Amino acid sequence: MATPVKLDQKFWKNFAKNHWEKKALSLKNVQSSLQEISAAEIFDLLVLYSDRCRQLNNPDGFKFYIDGFKADAEDVLQVLPEKRDQSLLGYHERMKKLFPDYCLVCDELLKVNLKKQHLLTDFTDELYRHVGFPNRFSEMGLYLGNYRKTPFGVHVDSCGVFSFPVAGIKKFRLWSQDYVRKNPSLDRAFKYDKHKKASVLLEAGPGDMTYWPSADWHIAESDGSFSATWSLGVWVDQPHKQLFSDSLKDLLDSKGGALASAPTTKFKTLHSKTGEVSELPEAYQQSIASLQKLSAAEIQETFLKSWMQHISLQGFKSIPQIDFKLSAKSRIQLRNPNALILWQQSQTAKDKYYFSFGGALVETSKPAGLLKLVKAINDGKTCTVSSYLKGATLKQDLKSLQTLADAGAFA
Ligand SMILES: [Fe+2]
Repeated sequence: MATPVKLDQKFWKNFAKNHWEKKALSLKNVQSSLQEISAAEIFDLLVLYSDRCRQLNNPDGFKFYIDGFKADAEDVLQVLPEKRDQSLLGYHERMKKLFPDYCLVCDELLKVNLKKQHLLTDFTDELYRHVGFPNRFSEMGLYLGNYRKTPFGVHVDSCGVFSFPVAGIKKFRLWSQDYVRKNPSLDRAFKYDKHKKASVLLEAGPGDMTYWPSADWHIAESDGSFSATWSLGVWVDQPHKQLFSDSLKDLLDSKGGALASAPTTKFKTLHSKTGEVSELPEAYQQSIASLQKLSAAEIQETFLKSWMQHISLQGFKSIPQIDFKLSAKSRIQLRNPNALILWQQSQTAKDKYYFSFGGALVETSKPAGLLKLVKAINDGKTCTVSSYLKGATLKQDLKSLQTLADAGAFA
């Protein structure tokens, strides 16, 4: 076996420089936090999540393909893993008798086990540190089955993809954007023998890792034997200007002036006799005046607040919510020592503070107790809520803390 490849700073520097959004990569025997989740644990997670779907009678988070066709929701519930399958292979034995070609996809798997979440964020945190924080998000999915080809043929996504096979051998065939532009018949193709020469084949087994950039067209191939693979897609389809204008829109929406919500716009004259338009209605004049009054501090605060909320999701679409009923007696600590509760002081009102976790945002104008508690928790301490929050602000502070708890901050 090859010596394990450590995903250290040297690796990430080289990755950012030579591979990210540039060139595919195939690594054998990688030492990564994600490899710590064994096939047996993944099977247990699948059963746990499947049980929940059966209970709710709703297979959301799972997709099932038979011979490349997506199954209906009610049929998906019938084919999910069960405890009696005992293992991923046991599940496969049951499925292959029913379907010569099937593919089960689960997008939400890591959300059922909060303790394992950090194994994913350990990886993505390092990635973001070197290539930048995604303006959209990353998504992690588990793909398993004996499907011979990706159900939708050769395709391209707006995300760079890292794959970590868990069981079996996984093969991905890639083509460059340029090549597919010249050979458009490859789009959605299942038959591509004559284009194989122009492709790159990545082959990976348990312990290995592959990556391809968002522009690479790809299809998964198999000889019909079983495989299970983690796949992390990092979306790259949201430019900075989108984030910027989204935050700006929130600011503008709150600064429109008294007439901002009017459904019609009063005017004196629409245009002169010659058709010239030279006069702005009052609603516009008011909005412009309030825009001109914006201070640099207000603008700074708007963007800092939305950036904080954005990064509080750790680069994911959502992070697992939990049932965690707080009281003054609760003893709490961070659920993930690397996922701090973020906070900032308002730039415009000295006593105003914002706190954020998992996309949730709370605001307080009596920050003393809450700030002390958050700092202690972020420092790795286990804290009794009542030692920090007391007196007249207790009720309001508990409410704020509960919002952060609902977003999954504490354990
Ligand atoms: Fe894809």
